[in-house]
Amino acid sequence: MLKASADAAKAFPFNNISMLKMTFIDPQGKSHEVDAPEGLSVLEVAHRNGFDLEGACEGCMACSTCHVIADPQWFDKLPVASEEEEDMLDLAFDVHETSRLGCQITMTKDLDGLVVTLPAQHYNLIGG
Ligand code: FES
Repeated sequence: MLKASADAAKAFPFNNISMLKMTFIDPQGKSHEVDAPEGLSVLEVAHRNGFDLEGACEGCMACSTCHVIADPQWFDKLPVASEEEEDMLDLAFDVHETSRLGCQITMTKDLDGLVVTLPAQHYNLIGG
């Protein structure tokens, strides 16, 4: 699941952007705290750290392969999901009350420490 990449996490070139933290809990229940640069999406943070979160449509809300389950303590701090995001989540695998699309959550200082769980599987609605 975790393909590594502490090096990728360190290679962040912008000095004036805050380096925040977030935690991914993998499908086996293991926690991984990682650097999460302000302004990146949860999907981008996952990619920078080698997590298996596909993001097949690259943030166009057409695939649901970026589905994550927000920790209940963090869910209310997230921006409200759009109708389009809710519609896509209706089609995702193993949806929970706190499910969100990782491509639609942007890291801000208010989300420093965010915790999300990676589902065991995803439906890829655009194929591939
Ligand atoms: Fe496809 Fe988020 S990357 S819906």
